[in-house]
Formats: sequence, structure tokens, C-alpha cells
Amino acid sequence: MTIDIMNYYACAVACWALLAVVGRATPAKIEGLEQTQEIDDVDYRDPRLILFKFISVAHDSCITTSNTQGICYSATDCTNLQGTASGTCAAGLGVCCTFTRNCESSTNINGTLFQNPEYPSVTTAALAACRLKVSPVNNNICQIRLDLTDFSIGQPNAEGVCVTDFLQVTGGATNIPLICGENAGQHLYLDVSPDFGSITINVDTSTVGAKWNISVTQISCNSPYRAPSGCLQYFTSTFGTIKSFNYDAKTTSTTTAPTATTQLANQEYGACIKSQTGFCSVVYSKTSGVSADYSFSMTDDPTSYAPGTVIPGMVKSSNCSTDYLVIPSGIIADTNLIYSNITAADRYCGANFAASPDTIASKVQPFVLYVVTDGTEVGIDGYNVGFSIDYRMQAC
Ligand SMILES: *[C@@H]1O[C@H](CO)[C@@H](O)[C@H](O)[C@H]1NC(C)=O
Ligand SMILES: *[C@@H]1O[C@H](CO)[C@@H](O)[C@H](O)[C@H]1NC(C)=O
Ligand SMILES: *[C@@H]1O[C@H](CO)[C@@H](O)[C@H](O)[C@H]1NC(C)=O
Ligand SMILES: *[C@@H]1O[C@H](CO)[C@@H](O)[C@H](O)[C@H]1NC(C)=O
Repeated sequence: MTIDIMNYYACAVACWALLAVVGRATPAKIEGLEQTQEIDDVDYRDPRLILFKFISVAHDSCITTSNTQGICYSATDCTNLQGTASGTCAAGLGVCCTFTRNCESSTNINGTLFQNPEYPSVTTAALAACRLKVSPVNNNICQIRLDLTDFSIGQPNAEGVCVTDFLQVTGGATNIPLICGENAGQHLYLDVSPDFGSITINVDTSTVGAKWNISVTQISCNSPYRAPSGCLQYFTSTFGTIKSFNYDAKTTSTTTAPTATTQLANQEYGACIKSQTGFCSVVYSKTSGVSADYSFSMTDDPTSYAPGTVIPGMVKSSNCSTDYLVIPSGIIADTNLIYSNITAADRYCGANFAASPDTIASKVQPFVLYVVTDGTEVGIDGYNVGFSIDYRMQAC
């Protein structure tokens, strides 16, 4: 993308300053600007042509005047690509452009935001299928990351299955479970082949009052941000919180028992934690500060325990067969000896999990927490909330 004549005049001062820097010989690397042609290809007689061929605005991220993230583009390109300009970037040569798409649209722009048409307000009519088709930016894309910056659609049915409302992603190489309910702050990675045609993100809603703002990032095959293949989620800090989809702080942060399951059925995925030099294991414990131990219930009925009492229900190993977490070669570091004397287990379920300072540790790399739920969350499973688990990487 080169700067056109209009932009050339618009940015005359900055551009002339730049020309002085670029000169005739070695091209200087200037922040926000990138080289598009070898210097030998340039006709030096016409300075405008140098700009024409030699300089383009690098598509770096920038901050818009409303303090949100945008991508730097020339003003003309921003308009042509149906973007919205807000503020400048690249020393005034570009505009900070955001790309927003609604239902039944398509994009090949990295960083596109997919929103319900009324966003930030909620839907006022059932939309049924609302799709964004994503085509690759270039032929070296191996993953797509979806950040559900804001996401609230209808809850699953009584069995935990997303029926009336769901997020569905098709066309990639990863099998992505259907997701519904409350998922603001969650993210998803999907593998795509480097020459993928397109993928389709569909938010299908039958209820009104839904809203979503999903940022769609394309990740190059050689990017340091690329997750190991098969990871639906990828956590890159040394500590953080991993929550099941539709783990709803609204129902779990009170002392009131949840009135229906929020755990989703039919999930099977890996939440991976990035390996880092100097760290040899990861410890997991349930998120503290959540009342009545509603931070973990994958099987069994948490309402049978009075708020504030110690829930005995941590279940391990082969006794977990329907809904459970897999922590490969997990070692129970049981400082209070509340649990039975099992030193290692792969599967964890029930209505309890290690509470700090107790932890479940794993040294198996790549670090991963697998999440498995079956097709139905009724009966004794009828009030499961899923999980909110804190992880922390341990130095070697
Ligand atoms: C939508 O999400 C993007 C990316 O996270 C954020 O920059 C933007 O502010 C959000 N839009 C609104 C209207 O909140
Ligand atoms: C897409 O944008 C993100 C965030 O700005 C960046 O890290 C990534 O490298 C970009 N992807 C490509 C293929 O340029
Ligand atoms: C499975 O549950 C049974 C009955 O509660 C118990 O006796 C057994 O020790 C459990 N096995 C494991 C591996 O936890
Ligand atoms: C756990 O097992 C170890 C070794 O077998 C034993 O010394 C210890 O007393 C046991 N602890 C409990 C609480 O049973």
C-alpha cells in the first residue's frame, strides 16, 4: 500500500522531512514506515515517485482518539476498505483506522472487529445467523485468534447444550465446540492451513438482548504468538486464570446457589500455557474469593452443600468419566491433607478442587489443561457451574 498523490500533498511537511532522512543511499529504518521496494528500483529524479514507490505506512497497531486500538493505514486505504479513521499515526502519514463488520459480511483485514449491528447496545430482534467470513491477509497465516472482548448471548438449554444461541466457527482445522452464554474476556485459537480459503464465524441468536464484540487477529506461521497446534486457548503469562466457557461470575460471586447449570455440554479442548525458560512446572488451584466454593463444580450438585462449608467432593482419576479436567500427571500437593492420600492423578471432577495453598502441580510439557464434558448436564449435574482455576508457573 503506497501513499497516493492526495496523501502526498496532505503530508507534505512530514514527507519532505522524511526524504531528507532517506536520502539516496542506505535507506534508514523509520518507525511506522516500511520499505516496499529496493532502492535500485526507484527513479531518483522525481521525489514524489520515491515516496510513491519507496514508502508505505506500516500496518502497526495505533490508538484511536477514543482510546481504542486501531491499525495504521493511509487515509484513502482506510476509506476504501470501509474502515473508520480516528486520529493519526506514522508521524502523521497515516490515520488510525478501525474495521468493524456486522452480520453477513466479509473481511481480509487483520484486527477486524465483529459486532452485533446495535453494538455497544444489545440486539432488539432475533438475528438468527449473523456471519463474518474471514479470508487470509496473506498466504502465510496458520492461526486465527478470536478475542471475545464482549460477549453475552442466550444460555444453553437445561442439558447444557447451546441450542437457541451459539457461536460457531467453521472452515478451520480445529474442531471448535459450540459456545453460548456469558463469555466476555474469553479467547479462542483456531488452526488454519496456510492457504485456507476462508473461515466463517457465526453468532446465531434466537433471543433478544444479545451483544458481542469479537476481535479477529490473523497469526502468521512464524509468529511468536502462534499457539501450539490443537490449543483452543493459549495463556502466555506466568500466572493467570482459566475459566470454563459460560463460567458466569454474576451467578457464582454471590452466596446464592446457582439455579441452573452454566457448564456447557459437549466440550473437549486444550487450554495451553506457554512454556518459558526457567519454569519447570505449573500449579493449579481454584480461584479464591468466590463464595460458597462455586469456583469448581463439574459433576455432582453443589447446591447440596451449605455456603461456606468445606465441600468434600473432589473426585479423581477413573472415577471421573463424564465431565472432568485432565492435568497430565497431576501431583496433589495437599498441605492440609483434606484429600485422600493420592499423589498423582490425571483426571479431576466432582464439586471441589485444590484450594490455595493446596495445589495440583504438573511438570508435563507443553503445559495443558484439557477440558472434557459430555452431552448432558441434567440430574445430579443440573447445577454445575464449570470452573475458574488460577494457574502459576513455578521456577525450576
Ligand atoms: C471492541 O473491542 C475492541 C478490541 O478489544 C476494543 O478496542 C473496542 O473498544 C471495543 N468496542 C467498543 C465499542 O467497546
Ligand atoms: C495482526 O495484528 C496483530 C496485532 O496487531 C499482529 O501481532 C500480527 O502480527 C498481525 N498479523 C499479520 C499476519 O500481520
Ligand atoms: C472411586 O470411588 C470409589 C467409591 O467412592 C472409591 O472407593 C475409589 O477409591 C475411587 N477411586 C479413585 C481412583 O479415586
Ligand atoms: C500418605 O502416604 C505416605 C506414604 O505412603 C504416608 O507416610 C502418610 O502418612 C500418608 N498420609 C495420609 C494422610 O494418609
